[in-house]
Amino acid sequence: MPTPSELEMNRRDLMVIACACAAFSTTAAGARAQPAPVGKPVLSEVSFNVNGRIHKLELDTRTTLLDALREHLHLTGTKKGCDHGQCGACTVLVDGQRINSCLTLAIMNQGSEVTTVEGLGGVDDLHPMQAAFVKHDGFQCGYCTPGQICSAVAVLDEIKAGIPSHVSADLTGPMALTETEIRERMSGNICRCGAYSNIVEAITEVAGRRG
Ligand code: FES
Ligand code: FES
Repeated sequence: MPTPSELEMNRRDLMVIACACAAFSTTAAGARAQPAPVGKPVLSEVSFNVNGRIHKLELDTRTTLLDALREHLHLTGTKKGCDHGQCGACTVLVDGQRINSCLTLAIMNQGSEVTTVEGLGGVDDLHPMQAAFVKHDGFQCGYCTPGQICSAVAVLDEIKAGIPSHVSADLTGPMALTETEIRERMSGNICRCGAYSNIVEAITEVAGRRG
């Protein structure tokens, strides 16, 4: 049977061991939390045409086209949603084709023609697609709208060019502009406000006017 003083020693020993373990695990966690050393940014000159104007920028080569537009050219119409290619808020037109600008580096677009929502039209001279979105209430908060409009403009060009989608019944004939086609082609543009029906109406109206 241990004496009271032996019991006291055991308790002290346990506390010493517990404190040592805690200190060790804190040190180990601290060591793990150290960020990896970051190399100096590599700068590169990039030149592209944005909304009809040539811009020359010196950018960190890791800068996305989205950040170049928003942070360096202050064209904040193009929105950053997920920054992972999943929501379509950052859609712009590059050489006439829609892309997620968060998924492409600025330097990959050297010499390209970029059109953002600001380049489609302004308050006094709305692009027909912008006007149709207003007319049909194709937005609520408006955060997804610049991307939706850029995508919608490209969709009409894709249909006119006879490019089929996943739901096209005939892959070689003229493309029919059905609601199913529009919804499929616009499916990369997420609207958290759920303005989808009105967006489809806006696109259908512009398509009808184009003939
Ligand atoms: Fe680019 Fe969401 S911000 S797809
Ligand atoms: Fe609000 Fe589309 S209008 S997310």
